Amino acid sequence: MKVLVTGGAGYIGSHMVLCLLEAGHDVVVLDNLANSSAESLRRVEELTGKHPEFIELDLLDALGVDNLFASGAFDSVIHFAGFKAVGESVAQPLKYYHNNIVGTLNLLASMDKHGVRSLVFSSSATVYGASEEVPLIEKMPLDATNPYGRTKEQIEDILSDLGASDPTWRVALLRYFNPVGAHESGRIGEDPSGIPNNLLPFVAQVAVGRREKVMVFGNDYPTPDGTGVRDYIHVMDLAAGHLAALGYLGSHAGVFTWNLGTGNGSSVLEVIQAFGDAAGKPIPFEFAPRRPGDAAVSYADPSAALADLGWSAHRSLAQMCADHWRWQESNPNGYAAS
Ligand code: WQD
Repeated sequence: MKVLVTGGAGYIGSHMVLCLLEAGHDVVVLDNLANSSAESLRRVEELTGKHPEFIELDLLDALGVDNLFASGAFDSVIHFAGFKAVGESVAQPLKYYHNNIVGTLNLLASMDKHGVRSLVFSSSATVYGASEEVPLIEKMPLDATNPYGRTKEQIEDILSDLGASDPTWRVALLRYFNPVGAHESGRIGEDPSGIPNNLLPFVAQVAVGRREKVMVFGNDYPTPDGTGVRDYIHVMDLAAGHLAALGYLGSHAGVFTWNLGTGNGSSVLEVIQAFGDAAGKPIPFEFAPRRPGDAAVSYADPSAALADLGWSAHRSLAQMCADHWRWQESNPNGYAAS
C-alpha cells in the first residue's frame, strides 16, 4: 500500500516508517520538522535500503496539504503529527488546540475530498485522565485533564462523528501508554528538544552524562515502593500494533479503539534500576514533590487488541532500557551531531 505518515520524522513516526518499509509498503512522510530531524529518515533509509519520500509541510498549510493529496494517490494515512508536551499545553493551550485540532481538520478535509478514508490515529492513554481505576479499558469514560490530552480526546470525537456520518471511513484510534526504547540498531531513537518531560529520555540523558540526576516526582504514592507506576511499551511493539491495525482496516469499515500497552506496570524506581543495569552504571536520583496531575498508577488492559488484531507487546522492560541506552550512548546529543 501507499501510506502517508504525518509526523513521520519524529520518534514514534520514524520507527513506524521503518516498519512500513520493511513490510513492503510505499511511504510518504509529511513533517514540518518542528520537533524532529530529517536525519531520522536518512537513517531509516540506511537501515532498510528503501527510500521514504519526505515532504516538509505543515498540516496548517491547508492548500499544501490538498495539493499533496491531489497528486498522492494514498491508500491510507497514519497520523502522528502534533504537539505532545503536557506541561507546555497547560501554558499555551491555544498553540495546542490550533496546531493539533486545525491541523487534523485540514488533513481530514483533504482525505475526504480525495477519497482517502483509511486512517490510523495516534491517540494516548492520557485521554483516560487521572483515573485511579486500573487496568484501563477502551470503553471507560474519558476525562483528559490537560489541553494536550483534550486535543487527543476531541480528535477521537471528531473521528467517531465522521465515521458515524459516513460508513466508508475506516479509522483506528490507538491509545498509547508510555512509549520507550529504540530500534535495536541504536541508529534511530527519541531525541526530545530541551529538558525531557518524560522519564526514560531524562534517565537516558543522566546515564550519558548530559544531566546530573533524576528527580523522582513523589515517593508517597499508594504503590509498592511509593513511586508512580506506568505501562511502558517498546516503540517497536507499538509500531507493530499500528501495522496490525492497518491490516484490520483493510477488511473492516468503521471506527475502532484499541489500547496499545503491555498490561504491566513498572514503578519509577524499577525503571531507574533497570536502566542502570542496562547502562552498567548506577543512575543518581533524588526524591522530589509529586508532579501535579500525575496519577499514581496507570496501565492498560490490552486484551481487545489481542482479540481483534492478534497483537500483543512482547519486549521486556530490560530490553526497552537496553535498546534505549544503545541509542543514547551512540548518540549522546541525539541527531544534533549529524
Ligand atoms: C512517567 C512517570 C512521573 C519524569 C506522559 C503523557 C502522556 C504520554 C506519555 C504523550 C510518572 C515520573 C517523570 C521525571 C519522574 N505522552 N517522572 N521524573 O506522565 O505517564 O505520560 O508521557 O502522549 O500523554 O502524559 O509519562 O514519562 O512523564 O512520567 O519521576 O523527570 O515518571 O511522575 O510517574 P506520563 P512520564
